Amino acid sequence: MDLRFDEITADILAHPLFQGLKEHCHHGKENTLYDHSLSTAYCAYRLALRFHLPEDRVRAVTRAALLHDFFLYDWRSEAHRRFVQQYKGWHRIARMHAFTHGALAARRASRRFDLDDRQRAAITCHMFPLAPMPKSAEGWILTLADKMVASREVSASMMCKVRRLYPRHSVA
Ligand SMILES: [Fe+2]
Ligand SMILES: [Fe+2]
Repeated sequence: MDLRFDEITADILAHPLFQGLKEHCHHGKENTLYDHSLSTAYCAYRLALRFHLPEDRVRAVTRAALLHDFFLYDWRSEAHRRFVQQYKGWHRIARMHAFTHGALAARRASRRFDLDDRQRAAITCHMFPLAPMPKSAEGWILTLADKMVASREVSASMMCKVRRLYPRHSVA
């Protein structure tokens, strides 16, 4: 990876809570929240450079992207499923992970790291259209980077499943 990218992200990557993201699967068994967050940050970094954002904003969007899924729970766990299922109808939908985790990640990340309002808003909006529409270049770049990386990870996971279901037969 790029040296400047490493400098921008080093303190967050070294944080014990961020290291803990390695314990949580995200898009498939081979992909953790740590992998996903790091890939999204690098994608956002490259996009910000491509769109000629000034240096301080490249730094800001890269760090926001690294923390965009810093919600600190296992959304695939039985405990989370039970939490959501205690509600009915609209209240249940409103508490589903896809709708809530952006705002939660922004709150939890800003308790541990120094984030400005624009970074917090970008994290909150990254699930657009399931979250409010981004209102800054940082918000749009983060939303785009997350979707690009997630699509790649979900596709890779599906290909693994297909290969397990239909293994190649060796020809004699
Ligand atoms: Fe997310
Ligand atoms: Fe994400």
